[in-house]
Amino acid sequence: RSEKIWLTLSFGMIMAFMIFAGYQAFALEMGPPSHGERIDPQKVDQTAPFDQPGIKQIGENEYEVVMTLQVFSFTPSDIEVPAGSTVHFTLTSKDVVHGFQVAGTNINAMVMPGYVQKITQKFDKAGEYLVLCNEYCGAGHQLMGTTITVK
Ligand code: CUA
Repeated sequence: RSEKIWLTLSFGMIMAFMIFAGYQAFALEMGPPSHGERIDPQKVDQTAPFDQPGIKQIGENEYEVVMTLQVFSFTPSDIEVPAGSTVHFTLTSKDVVHGFQVAGTNINAMVMPGYVQKITQKFDKAGEYLVLCNEYCGAGHQLMGTTITVK
């Protein structure tokens, strides 16, 4: 009798796992949450705007940051904006999946090779904002970080 219960239970577990795995494959098919533009990950350096990564002022208190992520760094790594700025990030990865998390903000995004990730964030408070990669990307993953300075 209890055997039957265990059989039913384990069958249920297997079914749940299969549904979950199927859902994950489906979600991946749909691409990352941004539904962003595609980019050839082999040609990031030759593809605008990533041929010129950096920070650019595009309005009063408004900046555009074009950034590439690669093992194990962020380019550019020296971002500085005045307090009260709105920053539009345009990101892509040159190799594997990285994360882009900015402490003290809601930014927590996946940056995938082949996709352009766009994020807008207003920085009201002055300070040093720690930028971390939160997707395991290899042996140097723990060292992959930088800061955004808000003055
Ligand atoms: Cu890049 Cu972890």
